[in-house]
Amino acid sequence: MNLTHRPATLADAHLYFDWANDPITRQQSFSSDPISLETHTAWFSRKLADSTALLLVFENEAGEPVGQIRFERKPVADMPDEIIVGISVDTRFRGQGLASQVIAEGCDECRKQWGAITIHAYIKPDNQSSIRSFTKAGFTFSHESGKFGVSGQERPSLVFSKTL
Ligand SMILES: CC(C)(COP(=O)(O)OP(=O)(O)OC[C@H]1O[C@@H](n2cnc3c(N)ncnc32)[C@H](O)[C@@H]1OP(=O)(O)O)[C@@H](O)C(=O)NCCC(=O)NCCS
Repeated sequence: MNLTHRPATLADAHLYFDWANDPITRQQSFSSDPISLETHTAWFSRKLADSTALLLVFENEAGEPVGQIRFERKPVADMPDEIIVGISVDTRFRGQGLASQVIAEGCDECRKQWGAITIHAYIKPDNQSSIRSFTKAGFTFSHESGKFGVSGQERPSLVFSKTL
């Protein structure tokens, strides 16, 4: 499928809200509680204004939004210049292998913005479609990490990385 991408705008707030509250997306996120519209709207406006975040919406040839990818350059904890990627594909467009395309094209855009960098994806060990998608887009397994989630209650996440 031919996809195009564009930066997210405030007009995408509801779209992102629906995507964020998709049950599988919540289950595969490191904070799985449902998100309120109020919390989401504040978070989304903050991210759009943040020069260390890159939010891209991908659309198909009919102009329908099929998914999003987000890169964040914020130091989360132990790595001062780490870039973390997160992705979701709309439920209507899952199972078509689109995620690897979104990841590859998103990484190209990220490189244009931030130059040669290493990107990390934190993936729950049971998230096979995500592992497969990142691998197809050129990411390789780096290490296990307990950085996200409640310590002792979750299996460590798998960190996949790619240097652009
Ligand atoms: C993860 C996600 C983005 C993948 O989207 P997608 O493009 O629809 O993924 P697909 O279903 O096409 O699966 C991608 C690949 O994984 C493979 N796969 C899927 N389930 C699998 C399983 N249980 N075991 C092994 N491989 C599996 C598919 O066969 C496909 O491989 P192929 O392209 O070689 O055929 C999507 O499921 C999603 O939005 N999930 C919720 C949010 C999320 O989990 N984000 C990632 C957080 S790290």
